[in-house]
Amino acid sequence: MTRAEDAVRTVRDLRARVAAWRDAGETVALVPTMGAIHAGHLSLVALAKAQADRVVASLFVNSLQFGPREDFHAYPRDEANDAAALTAGGSDLLYAPDASEMYPPGFSTKVSVNDLTEDLCGAARPNHFDGVATIVAKLLLQCAPDIAVFGEKDYQQLLVIKRLVRDLNIPVEIAGGAIVREDDGLALSSRNAYLSPEERKIAPVLYQNLCGVAGELEKGSSADDASTAARAKLEASGFRVDYVAVRNPDTLEVLQGQVKDARVLAAVHLGKTRLIDNVPVPLQAR
Ligand code: PAF
Repeated sequence: MTRAEDAVRTVRDLRARVAAWRDAGETVALVPTMGAIHAGHLSLVALAKAQADRVVASLFVNSLQFGPREDFHAYPRDEANDAAALTAGGSDLLYAPDASEMYPPGFSTKVSVNDLTEDLCGAARPNHFDGVATIVAKLLLQCAPDIAVFGEKDYQQLLVIKRLVRDLNIPVEIAGGAIVREDDGLALSSRNAYLSPEERKIAPVLYQNLCGVAGELEKGSSADDASTAARAKLEASGFRVDYVAVRNPDTLEVLQGQVKDARVLAAVHLGKTRLIDNVPVPLQAR
């Protein structure tokens, strides 16, 4: 069960529950979340459930990955609803530690993954990926799952976590779950709740433009031309654009000229809301 009152709050209790499953010969998957659970998270729980006997969902709004002017305090928090949704989605255990359990006084260790984190979201959000890498390393060491599942919407994050696990020899398989979208194409995100009704109408234009870039690349346009055109269209639609980028899907290296295998990634602002999204090249049918 993952009712809020049944959540485990300490590393010790989490390890005891996982150990009992292991003693019974069961495998364990972890789905890390910051709460504000939506169908995208539940698709990750379903993926986890398909690959392991037991699923732990963690819920922790990680202060370390927010910048000083970002939305840490405003981030939606509703543990009872999240627990109910995760239970219905098939999670066996909710791990919801307090900040004092995660970051006790004197906490002074930082995990940094260089190379993959300098640009794209790393450029606009300095320290963000250190915060992500630090909390994910902690969660993996605390839970010691066989598999951990992360969404492809945070594509750069997914690659950072794969690199972290490889570099530190953490014995876990990292799986990526496909982006879940609204009918109009908008990628599900906890931050979509910040959009005004007017902004919500405009928001799907982001995905349409990414598909447009992928389509142009498939027709032979250069990466530069396709991304520059998409940036202009997004700006004309009212977005403030952080980046539209065509990258190597494994290393995030910049790709130029004609490309056949790539990831198109973008981050934009719509009013006060920052949205990210990405699509593969070649495009896959939804
Ligand atoms: O993707 C998220 O929700 C967070 O970055 C994660 C992986 C749970 C770490 O706080």
